[in-house]
Amino acid sequence: MSSAVWSELRALAKQPLDLRAEFAKDPARAERFALEACGINLDYSKNLITDGIWQRLLTLAEQSPLAQKKAQMFAGDKINNTEQRSVWHTALRAPLTVDLQLDGADISSEIADCHAQMHQLVTQLNNAQYLGYSGEPITDLVWIGIGGSLLGPQMAVEALTPYNVSPVQIHFAGNIDGAVVTDVVKGLDPATTLVFVASKSFGTEETKQNALAIRQWFLDNGADKNAIARHFWATSSNIKAAAEFGIVPEHILPMWDWVGGRYSLWSAIGFPLCLMLGVTQFQQLLAGAYAMDQHFVEAPLAENMPVILALLGVWYINAHGCQSHALLPYSHYLRLLPSYVQQLDMESNGKGVDSNGNSLSLATAPVIWGDAGTNGQHAYHQLLHQSALAVPADFILPIQPAHDLTDHHKRLAAHCFAQTQALMQGKTIAEAHAEVLAAGGSAEDAARLAPHKASPGNKPSNTLLLPELSPYYLGALIALYEHKVFVQGVLWDINSFDQWGVELGKQLSTPIYQVLSGQQQHQFDASTQRLIKLFQR
Ligand code: F6P
Repeated sequence: MSSAVWSELRALAKQPLDLRAEFAKDPARAERFALEACGINLDYSKNLITDGIWQRLLTLAEQSPLAQKKAQMFAGDKINNTEQRSVWHTALRAPLTVDLQLDGADISSEIADCHAQMHQLVTQLNNAQYLGYSGEPITDLVWIGIGGSLLGPQMAVEALTPYNVSPVQIHFAGNIDGAVVTDVVKGLDPATTLVFVASKSFGTEETKQNALAIRQWFLDNGADKNAIARHFWATSSNIKAAAEFGIVPEHILPMWDWVGGRYSLWSAIGFPLCLMLGVTQFQQLLAGAYAMDQHFVEAPLAENMPVILALLGVWYINAHGCQSHALLPYSHYLRLLPSYVQQLDMESNGKGVDSNGNSLSLATAPVIWGDAGTNGQHAYHQLLHQSALAVPADFILPIQPAHDLTDHHKRLAAHCFAQTQALMQGKTIAEAHAEVLAAGGSAEDAARLAPHKASPGNKPSNTLLLPELSPYYLGALIALYEHKVFVQGVLWDINSFDQWGVELGKQLSTPIYQVLSGQQQHQFDASTQRLIKLFQR
């Protein structure tokens, strides 16, 4: 990508643009900068764009190798160049009639077999036919995994709570903080608990240690080795390591090296969700994601939702210098979405070099943060409204609630829309002044308070409306963010599918652990040395 385009965008960002004035002179921008795809409605009219800026941003996408990269991804090419891997999570949600081949392997059949295994176990568990070692049906599933092997199923299980049809309670254990496993097994009975060890590599320390701790809990509570074989399942691409751990081969569901961890919800990593929803609704999740894939593949750039979100993102990051992006679901059930998208976006695009290893001169992924509205309004929205920091935000609202409190839902929606309106239009000093006077304040009060009460406005946001938070629309929403991240990776020319940065901390923790556990002595920098001493004392 020529640096001239980026310089031009930076220059454009310096030109004054008043959103309130733009709406006043052209109310039609609300229709023009809006789009519906797979039932999801995106209003991006409250962004710092004009027709001219938008055309320039679209040119950025046109001049990029997006079309080629997209074709490569959907064809299963090895676009993860540092690991020589395909990036083919989209294959997992394609209809099983589509014939997919990779390096001579029949991918479609492998996926179909994996689904069949998942469906069989789901049916057995949901019909109380899978009996534990004492002959009682399974009542609880403990899912052990971390990062991409946890965040997706955990977020989606939470999001689709109203669709739960399973008698089996699902529990998640990720962190190596011993409090997690301690809490998870509280109240559980090993005789009625099934354990799933979810690790693509089957080498992740947290997952292995938590799995070992739970296995010990089984042994300490009356289970023997045969019982463990019956109660432990895994999903991994490292069959050997899973087998060495003691998982019997017929209990190992496949993972493939062509599916990145943070893109793996659609594989057997989605098992908890399949269990909770039942097979038909799980397929709806896949169908929603597939519909978004089709939209991403087919829609022209100007009408392509992932492309639009990606371009708006680079506009703020690279031209306006924004460093963070708020994800604000106005949905209690979507409250884990920001944590999920954090990994998706920040682990994919938080890179310092381009795909050839050259230092990047451009900033890449923003800090993703957020929580369910309206909670944030009473916590951090103050900063969004009045601080000098510019934080673009995505507001996400399901139109149909999953409960009967319709008045609550109208109030929730009112707050969602009011926040985007307030961020966009702000409140001028004159308006704040008049407000104080209208409330009976003196002219002196008005002059003193107006600067505090005024809000600058001109703060950008997107609003995404989902017809309802169903498996289908959740699938489409997740795929939307996946493709947004992909497009940005292409625009920045980075490999969005490796994550070498997380390795150093893992490497350094080993010798520190050896010292802490008295196995070996090592020398560290003075600060680390001192912290170790304090911990040991
Ligand atoms: O350490 C980062 C990471 O590799 C993530 O990319 C991945 O989702 C997570 O760890 C878990 O990895 P695994 O599934 O191999 O245990």
